[in-house]
Formats: sequence, C-alpha cells, structure tokens
Amino acid sequence: MPDPTRPEGPKIIAVANQKGGVGKTTTTINLGAALAETGARVLIVDLDPQGNASTGLGIEAEARTFTAYDLLLDEISLDDVIQPTGVDHLSIIPATVDLSSADIELISNEKRSFLLHDALRQPAMDAYEFEYILIDCPPSLNLLTINAMVAAHSILVPLQSEFFALEGLSQLMLTIREIRQTANPALRIEGVVLTMFDARNNLSTQVEQDARDNLGDLVFKTRIPRNVRVSEAPSYAMSVLSYDPQSKGAQAYRDLAQELMQNSARIAA
Ligand SMILES: Nc1ncnc2c1ncn2[C@@H]1O[C@H](COP(=O)(O)OP(=O)(O)OP(=O)(O)O)[C@@H](O)[C@H]1O
Ligand SMILES: [Mg+2]
Repeated sequence: MPDPTRPEGPKIIAVANQKGGVGKTTTTINLGAALAETGARVLIVDLDPQGNASTGLGIEAEARTFTAYDLLLDEISLDDVIQPTGVDHLSIIPATVDLSSADIELISNEKRSFLLHDALRQPAMDAYEFEYILIDCPPSLNLLTINAMVAAHSILVPLQSEFFALEGLSQLMLTIREIRQTANPALRIEGVVLTMFDARNNLSTQVEQDARDNLGDLVFKTRIPRNVRVSEAPSYAMSVLSYDPQSKGAQAYRDLAQELMQNSARIAA
C-alpha cells in the first residue's frame, strides 16, 4: 500500500535517441508544456551540453549560474538549480556547455551512473510536487544518457519520419536492455513517437508502417506533424503551445500528453 500521506513522487521520463536532430528537445519542451497545461507540475532537466531546451524556454545564458552540472557533481540546493519558465507549472534545470566535461569527470566517480537518480530522489524534491520530470538527453549514448536511463521510470523515443530512422533503434534498445539487467530493472519504454511526420510524403508513411510492424503498441498513435510553427517557437523562447496555441503542432503535443497520461493510468490500473 502506498503511504497516503506521502506523494508517490514524479514520473520520470527520459527523452532519448542517440541520433541527432530527431526532435528530442522539441518533444521535451512541448510535451512538458502540454502536460503543464493540464495542471500537472512539470520539471524539465536539460541534460544536453548544447542547452537547447534551456534556450528554447528562454533561460538566458546569464541566468544559468547553476545548472544540471551542479545537480550532478556539486552539493547544491534544489532551489538554486530549479528555475521557473514562462509557462505556468513548468520549471527547468538548465544546462550549459560545462556539462560536456561532466561526462568525462563522471568516469572516475564510483556512483557515476546513479548521480541523477539520487539527485532527483532527494527528499527536498517532494516539496515541489512535480508530477512529471522530463529529461532531455544529448544525441549520444554517453554517461549523461546512462544517468538519465538509470534515473528514469521510462524512456520516450522520438523517431524522425525519415529514411534510416529505424537503424539506430536496435542500438538504443540494446542499451536499454543492459540498463535493465544492471542498474534499473524496472525501466520501461514509454513509447516511440513519430516526429516531423508528413502524411503527403511516402517516406513518412513507410517509416510509420515499419515502426508499427516492428514495434507494435510501443508506437504512440499520435504523430507529430512537420509544422513550421513548431520550428519557429524556440526562437521566440516559447513552447509552440504558447507561440501558436491553435497550430497543428500544438494540438499534436496536447494529444501526445493525453495519450501518455492514459497509458500511465492503464499501467497503474
Ligand atoms: N514537428 C516539427 N516540425 C518542424 N520542425 C521540427 C519539428 N520537430 C523538430 N523540428 C526541428 O528539427 C530540428 C531538430 O529538432 P530538435 O532540436 O528537437 O532535435 P534533437 O533530437 O533534440 O536534436 P539534438 O540531437 O541535436 O539534441 C530543429 O530545428 C527543430 O526546430
Ligand atoms: Mg536536443
């Protein structure tokens, strides 16, 4: 029986795919905003030295005094690293390029794979009452991504609707299997979401068919369309839900949030 006086704690989802430019950051920001729009408290952890999630949500470089690097490697209070964004209920732990050295510094650390796991489970986290923590991973299967996979309950995989999209997936699945066998036996795959989907393009529909044939129910019904409003939003430091609430991109991310919440409810039942 869960203790009714203590919140169960946030659901932690790593958004990962070692292939670059497939829509990890876009999905982290906009799914985060869509979950927050339902009233849930959401934290984004920017775990990519590129810091694109931080930039896309308007966290200026000067405001990144404390970052995910400090969360992993320094004793730092959560109040110092967790920042509000322009979106209600959506907070972020930003990243800077410093994080690229963390990947190397971690190697000599005995707890190297568990640093994020432990940081996100510190008792001080409870006070924030986050329901979801989304981790934006770098395009690599390095120690930062391993930390995300060890910390997470599940992995959400954006799959760009392009040629070769499925090629990198077997490597990703292998890594997930290894993490399950060692550090995180309960790790699930939240789902694979098709991004930059163009229904008029035969290649998109072919990638979708292949993904559904190979991965079955793991593929979300919701597809994220290629939509110029989605790609414009970060340069205005906004999620697409704020930038153009009625756009197809905004609607798709709302649908994805609904589908994710329904899946979670089904698994809990
Ligand atoms: N649905 C979409 N419609 C149009 N453009 C999109 C869409 N999703 C992502 N993009 C664009 O594709 C590019 C790559 O997206 P994004 O940065 O989210 O990928 P990523 O996987 O995080 O990349 P990286 O591996 O470098 O971290 C960006 O320019 C983004 O604006
Ligand atoms: Mg990214």
